[in-house]
Amino acid sequence: MIIIRMNKAVLEETFNITLKKRIGPLNTVDAQLYNNNTYVYRFSKPANEAAAKLEIKIAEAAAKKGIAPKISNALYKNGILMFRMEKMHGNLEELTRKFKDLDFMGTVKDLIREFHSLKYCHKDIAKNPRNVLYKINQDGSISLYLTDFTTSSIKNSDCRDITQLNYRDLPMGKSERRIIAGNWYTLPTLGGSPRTPRTPKTPRTPKTPRTPKTPRTPKTQRPLVLPKTPGTPKRRLFLKIPRVNNL
Ligand SMILES: Nc1ncnc2c1ncn2[C@@H]1O[C@H](COP(=O)(O)OP(=O)(O)O)[C@@H](O)[C@H]1O
Ligand SMILES: [Mg+2]
Repeated sequence: MIIIRMNKAVLEETFNITLKKRIGPLNTVDAQLYNNNTYVYRFSKPANEAAAKLEIKIAEAAAKKGIAPKISNALYKNGILMFRMEKMHGNLEELTRKFKDLDFMGTVKDLIREFHSLKYCHKDIAKNPRNVLYKINQDGSISLYLTDFTTSSIKNSDCRDITQLNYRDLPMGKSERRIIAGNWYTLPTLGGSPRTPRTPKTPRTPKTPRTPKTPRTPKTQRPLVLPKTPGTPKRRLFLKIPRVNNL
């Protein structure tokens, strides 16, 4: 078996990129992750090309559904699979260290159910809260996402993602803080209106049609002035034009 080494220099050369800070577990034998200010780069060595293609397909389908980081590039080269993806704020284990009273299990189940609706089984989620990522939204709510689809495959009746789901080692409580499965703006607010922050902005701009008000007054005044002196300016104009043409 050929062992592909994944040191930083090899990764940078293979994918023609510059990598900055390494994140995630540093002694891992699976993936290597780097944080590049805007994106997270994830490198792994799938068993073969078919496995790499399936992982890309699953990760992209989950991202499209809004339940996994958005992917801006996915490449399989020299036996290495690279994902360049949306940077989240961390994983669920880290989140529960930050807020010890969160009531997150229901949302984790919803997240997995949404993934199952794509007809895939994750297979490394039931006992692994580090494969759940989080992002704190603008309104203070928290969005949860799935990641690490290395072991995922087409779902069959043997899928144990939910039946064996157990994060009992994580601190949890009954906080009222809103926790959402996936992208926050796809969900309605508590009041029922869509949570897209752009919608209120657009109606505001066309609200200033004040211009028609001002032209009204000069329009009525002008006809009153103009009929008073209709002849004189016309004559002057006729006199001026031939002078210009002569020059
Ligand atoms: N898009 C991301 N944004 C922020 N952190 C991430 C992202 N993807 C992964 N991580 C971090 O890296 C860790 C390992 O990522 P993962 O894809 O699960 O690789 P591994 O195969 O090593 O388990 C995650 O638990 C999380 O802390
Ligand atoms: Mg993982």
